[in-house]
Amino acid sequence: MTTRVLTAFWRISSGFKTPSQKILTINLRSSQLSAATQASIFEPIPREELVTKFKSRLRDRQFLPGSSGGGFPEFLAEPRDSFPLGVRVNNRNQSTLAELTAKCMEYVEENFPHSPAILFRDLPAKTAEEFSIIAQAIQGKTLTYEGGTAFRTQVDKSAGTYTASIDPPSYTIEPHNEMSFNDLFPSKVFFFCLKEAADGCGGETPLVKNKDLLSKMDPEVVQKFEEKQLRYVRYLPDKSRGEYMNWQHTFTTENREDVEPRAKQQGYSVTWDTNGDLYLWTNKDVFIRHPLTGEKIWFNQAHSHHGSYYKAMPTFLDTEIPDDKFPCHAYYGDGSVIEPEAIQHIRATAWECAVGFQWRSGDLLVMDNLAVQHSRIGFSGDRKVLAYLTA
Ligand SMILES: [Fe+2]
Repeated sequence: MTTRVLTAFWRISSGFKTPSQKILTINLRSSQLSAATQASIFEPIPREELVTKFKSRLRDRQFLPGSSGGGFPEFLAEPRDSFPLGVRVNNRNQSTLAELTAKCMEYVEENFPHSPAILFRDLPAKTAEEFSIIAQAIQGKTLTYEGGTAFRTQVDKSAGTYTASIDPPSYTIEPHNEMSFNDLFPSKVFFFCLKEAADGCGGETPLVKNKDLLSKMDPEVVQKFEEKQLRYVRYLPDKSRGEYMNWQHTFTTENREDVEPRAKQQGYSVTWDTNGDLYLWTNKDVFIRHPLTGEKIWFNQAHSHHGSYYKAMPTFLDTEIPDDKFPCHAYYGDGSVIEPEAIQHIRATAWECAVGFQWRSGDLLVMDNLAVQHSRIGFSGDRKVLAYLTA
């Protein structure tokens, strides 16, 4: 609904009405037109258009944690039951990208309760600069990746956009809720596809509904985690020693004094050793309540914050490192070791629930970070996805 059309309508319809009648008429017509405009802007994408031409292998896949350990499906599944919900954006009124983004976000708010992952296609956006415009048009507090566990670079500081993880392309990143190991985590995660991988080259962003995962998990495994909680430990060496992850990158500072308050804000206890290396630990529940739906949600990274996650990475191939000297590791909350079978069970069940979809350049994926896990299939060739987070 453009201002021009609304003004013209007001002039025609106002006639001899009193001011209050005029306002009522405008409000009624405006909302009717708004609904009609929404219907004409958004159009469902047929499921077939979201299905990839080639199925990505999961079982026995190289550089995928646990893939040879049993229970993995052979291939990544196709989208099912409108997950993700694909929506084409028509721009017949030649609205600006910021105006269309605002409409998309209205659509998200209306549909998130039943569709927690929505893929918008055909927005007039193809570049990182246009993703910045999208990010700036989204209401909500921008969140940084400070305290995160993946390597990424900031693309536009003022817009708050980042690259998605730049871990080695051949590595397959396991499903996870973004920063569920921190006290401060995003409620929404936005991914923007700058360049999709070529057919058959991987690079999908598989999605998992947390409630599907929980419904398929062994209740005894779940109960043990619930009773004992999780202990996340992190080892962040000083960057001078050139190791994979360092505290300067993680906390975006060169000053040691900045780290402690920031780590404590995320709920961590802090220890420095004499080499200037940093150790963090925190205990967390494995469940949270969704603030909108009230649903009890499996929300943790027992498996993808575990030393075995890093052991499968090309970066650590053939290196002998104790579990607690990987960037992250997880124990039960009492400090006892999590059984490898329990980790394998979580991994295999998550992949059993995962669906992949076909990215197209310019796609915008919006996820409820509490309801949906995301991941990345290892890829070859060129593939670029950007990210943005809101609290
Ligand atoms: Fe992530």
